[in-house]
Amino acid sequence: MKIEKPRGTRDLSPEEMGKRRFVEGEIVRTFESYNYRPIQVPTFEHAELFSLKSGEEIRQHMYVFRDKSDRELCLRPEATASVCRMFVENFQNTQMPLKFYYMGPMFRYERPQKGRYREFWQAGVELIGPSGARSDAEVISMASKCLENIGLKFELEVGHLGILRGLMRDLGIGAGKQDELINAMDKGETERLENLVEHEVLLDIIGLNGQKDAVERAKTILNSYPSALSALEELSQILSLLDENATSYVVNMGVARGLEYYTGMVFEIMVNGLGAQSQICGGGRYDLLIELFGGKTTPAVGFAFGFDRVVDAFDEQGIKAPEAAVDFVVAPVSDEIRKDADRIASELRKQGASVDIDLMDRKLGKIMEYAANVNALQVVIVGPKELAKSEVTLRDMKTGGQENVKIANLKFKIEKRNGK
Ligand code: HAM
Repeated sequence: MKIEKPRGTRDLSPEEMGKRRFVEGEIVRTFESYNYRPIQVPTFEHAELFSLKSGEEIRQHMYVFRDKSDRELCLRPEATASVCRMFVENFQNTQMPLKFYYMGPMFRYERPQKGRYREFWQAGVELIGPSGARSDAEVISMASKCLENIGLKFELEVGHLGILRGLMRDLGIGAGKQDELINAMDKGETERLENLVEHEVLLDIIGLNGQKDAVERAKTILNSYPSALSALEELSQILSLLDENATSYVVNMGVARGLEYYTGMVFEIMVNGLGAQSQICGGGRYDLLIELFGGKTTPAVGFAFGFDRVVDAFDEQGIKAPEAAVDFVVAPVSDEIRKDADRIASELRKQGASVDIDLMDRKLGKIMEYAANVNALQVVIVGPKELAKSEVTLRDMKTGGQENVKIANLKFKIEKRNGK
């Protein structure tokens, strides 16, 4: 019986994993350079955690199931709600700010296509405690730095839901309709949006984009809407900080985000060439979510990379990860000396080298082909004549050069290669 993998899931080959490891390494290194620390939250939670405030978009796509005790559970569609729950359960009395990062699979029952999967990975951060523009700016520039460090070209769009919600409040639009409008904006459903909006000023603001000058234009449009204006001032401060640390951005007042918990600054990062899946990162400020889960009012801001899309963009832009290589392939020339070959392999591993050894009883020529295939840096040829002198033949796979070396001196070779 042939069983196939479930729709929307993937098997990842060592080549793909090599690339993913490299990209993950750069992202994690950047997170840690800002002193963010790793955390892990469960892959499934009570469904309620996400249905409360994640928004229609997420609710429609949740994997919900009942366990044997009839609890309603859900495979996590994202991690921000889990991190807030974890904060309320464990960290309320810890000194702020808390700087967390995570990397792991998320699950959404969406229509699969390239860049859109039912099981996909996110690498994200949550900064809990501070509320000022500085913390928004830190999070945005960190996202940007991660991608710069990988070598990606991208565009970062910043908006502010406080401006939109403030304006809607000033216009007397209720919370339910506000969510509906923001949902239509996020999905880019222009017609639905125009049908919902009765106020020209709202469409003017949503359509506003540009550099920092967009803030000046927004100021003119919003001059009689006080709540919107104060949020605009906050956005302006965030942009000044981004200018100071040379983070490039465009202002897009139409950035709405599919999740309902955002209260302030929101941002998205886009890349060319991935079609409808061009959004590789999304985030923003969510100052009321922790309170919703029973915690003290605690401001927070964060983002998540769609990790698979970052890797797709990496391919699309022709960036290459360093090739996977193995330090040594050990090649016994005959069966009788396998034991000695094994001993040499374990000795090299003990010294920290990565070592592969023939497991297919191949002849030397075939082992050489295999070694080239797995990108071996050196092959240790173990033959009876050399062994008798406590030596092996070391072949450098790059230059093709060979030399006989004392087994005791193999250690020296590793140290030399690592530049120690
Ligand atoms: P999100 O925009 O829903 O935000 O997801 C973040 C990123 O995950 C998206 O920008 C996209 O690249 C990727 N993504 C979403 N769905 C899929 C899918 N089906 N297949 C592949 N990639 C996908 C959040 O999840 C928030 N928790 C981000 C956040 C953290 N906000 C504050 N803190």
